[in-house]
Amino acid sequence: MPHFSFEQRFIVTGASHGIGKDVALLLNEYGASVICIARNLNSLSIMKDEAKHPEYIFIEQKDLSDNVGYIPKYINELKDKYGKFQGMAFCAGTGEVKPVRAVNLDELRNVFEINFFAPYMMAKAFADKRIHNGWGTSCVFISSVAAIRCDKGQSVYAGSKAALSASVKSIARECSSMGVRFNCVSPSAINTRLLHTSPQEIVEKQAELYPMGIGDVRDVSNLIVYLLSNEAKWITSQNYIIDCGAIL
Ligand SMILES: NC(=O)c1ccc[n+]([C@@H]2O[C@H](COP(=O)([O-])OP(=O)(O)OC[C@H]3O[C@@H](n4cnc5c(N)ncnc54)[C@H](OP(=O)(O)O)[C@@H]3O)[C@@H](O)[C@H]2O)c1
Repeated sequence: MPHFSFEQRFIVTGASHGIGKDVALLLNEYGASVICIARNLNSLSIMKDEAKHPEYIFIEQKDLSDNVGYIPKYINELKDKYGKFQGMAFCAGTGEVKPVRAVNLDELRNVFEINFFAPYMMAKAFADKRIHNGWGTSCVFISSVAAIRCDKGQSVYAGSKAALSASVKSIARECSSMGVRFNCVSPSAINTRLLHTSPQEIVEKQAELYPMGIGDVRDVSNLIVYLLSNEAKWITSQNYIIDCGAIL
């Protein structure tokens, strides 16, 4: 089982719901301090109430799509407030099913803001050695199997996630000499709010694809927390598919 100390601080984005919330709770249960970022303050407070060690959960309300270019400076401000970071899990994301003929440029940009530009700028922040603890620092990004194999209506979402997993691979190689690790996890259907933004009949049709059923948040968060821990100290530049073998 991975273990951490409260001197080890991790940023988790998307910590108010779904996979990000479970990553924050699991890291905290295993003994880490967690700086939790999302837009919904009420949901972040509920998450903190559920934590095993709430005194080591720190809430930061922020829209990460807002002024994305400022993210490295924002992370530097958080470093001044809390101290250097041991790592980060970028779990914030969005996506909806829409045919290409119905997509306009603003919608395309909006999805890329949170699914690609924001995590990219977060990676840029962690490429700066003033931000992190150096050797052993670990960053994990949630991509998606859609980046590799997608269905109709996923052109925007799949494109944003493919851009993310491709960039993370390169950034990992740039930063490995600092001992800082960057990996992606790519889930398929996980039972969260995001999955249920698709029409019910699509969710039901999807469920039939999975011999082990739709995934649970813990199926993803366990791997993310392992990758953040020192147990994974020789693993970098990888992209782990989590789909119970149903898609890839
Ligand atoms: N669920 C799946 O089937 C599945 C499959 C493959 C990949 N993924 C990926 O997994 C990640 C987590 O998704 P999920 O399924 O856990 O969805 P979710 O339950 O809807 O959670 C998404 C999280 O992202 C945060 N978020 C969204 N936009 C944000 C913004 N502009 N600024 C700050 N925070 C923002 C949300 O918080 P607020 O609303 O409070 O801001 C929420 O905490 C996403 O990247 C998603 O693409 C999910």
